[in-house]
Amino acid sequence: MAVFVTGCAGFIGSNFVHYFLSHNNELILNIDKLTYAGNLENLNYEGDGRYVFVHGDIADEVLLKQLLDKHKPRAVLNFAAESHVDRSIHGPSDFIETNVLGTFNLLESVRAYWQDLPAAEKDAFRFLHVSTDEVYGTLSPTDPPFAETKNYEPNSPYSASKAASDHLVRAWHHTYGLPVLTTNCSNNYGPYHFPEKLIPLVLLNALAGKPLPIYGDGQQVRDWLYVEDHCRAIARVLEAGKVGETYNIGGWNEKTNLEVVHTLCAVLDELKPREDGKRYAEQITYVKDRPGHDRRYAIDARKIERDLGWKPQETFETGIRKTVQWYLANQAWVEGVTSGAYRQWVGKQYGA
Ligand code: NAD
Ligand code: DAU
Repeated sequence: MAVFVTGCAGFIGSNFVHYFLSHNNELILNIDKLTYAGNLENLNYEGDGRYVFVHGDIADEVLLKQLLDKHKPRAVLNFAAESHVDRSIHGPSDFIETNVLGTFNLLESVRAYWQDLPAAEKDAFRFLHVSTDEVYGTLSPTDPPFAETKNYEPNSPYSASKAASDHLVRAWHHTYGLPVLTTNCSNNYGPYHFPEKLIPLVLLNALAGKPLPIYGDGQQVRDWLYVEDHCRAIARVLEAGKVGETYNIGGWNEKTNLEVVHTLCAVLDELKPREDGKRYAEQITYVKDRPGHDRRYAIDARKIERDLGWKPQETFETGIRKTVQWYLANQAWVEGVTSGAYRQWVGKQYGA
């Protein structure tokens, strides 16, 4: 048996491979284009016959056909995406290429493969699409959290491209009967998180004595989920999710960005105090807001809890402590990913 995953040299995907291989003995084949966000050091499985890496693009139908015919997977999980909202504002075209056209191509390739499977394998096959809560738009402070029935109102080029991909996945089920599952998750954090996103960026800037950039007033709210909890949820949806259904995944951890940064600074004060005896929170700096910045996301995760028995195992406080410990213990990884291209991005986004 084999499972195909796409984009698993990135943050969530690499955590998923670690989770999957510690709970299964199946072959897992990872197709990743290795963009700036993909890093093979996230996955050190040399000599382990259960893991195969293929450098490739989900938009490459010839490659996909060859791999599907050769390995005959029982499932395809699509993690591959351009995932950073700020980058989508600077340059949306890669987001359309991968998130929309790439997903379209993947669906078509998988459909062609699935259609010709023998009946029992065809019935058991699953296509799981990993998506985001951002497709639902933004909430006011008194709105209920996003349920699966919430209409889509994406506001950034990133969320619009993910919404488009979700719609394609839905349509491939309704029109062609492809057995799909979609998950919409809130903000993840944890090991291997690329330091362009809030938590790892603030953590590394704090340690480097740099400003901790807060967009606008810092009162935007996100729901935070430790990445391993997300990976467990995906594995559970793959195992027991109802074909054609969508599952929202969240941590019941709504926090303002300022609260997140203050919590992170407090953990750092304890685990790696500043040499000058001052507090890391003194490095907080308010910077220009993100254009079109969504004010609040919140997830109603009752469906996956009720139907599939999944619940997050980490609180924000335990998860953030594990995350800080991981970054402190993995300085070599940090140095590897904060190379020239990373520095160029930071210069473009935050100025000198
Ligand atoms: P990431 O940016 O860290 O990793 C994306 C990976 O996809 C990289 O390894 C990259 O090389 C690969 N990739 C990009 N374009 C590709 C292509 N055309 N073909 C093959 N591989 C390609 O992203 P992430 O944070 O790990 O997110 C993974 C998925 O989860 C995405 O679909 C994202 O929308 C979704 N998601 C992320 C979060 C979050 O908080 N990070 C929350 C909910 C959902
Ligand atoms: O909600 C799920 C989404 O979470 C995923 O779909 C995306 O792939 C993922 O990147 C994430 O999107 P966000 O835009 O919420 O994450 P980011 O870490 O970029 O920002 C989190 C919040 O922090 C957001 O309100 C913007 C703010 N922020 C971010 C950065 C990078 C700052 O205030 N300063 C910063 O420097």
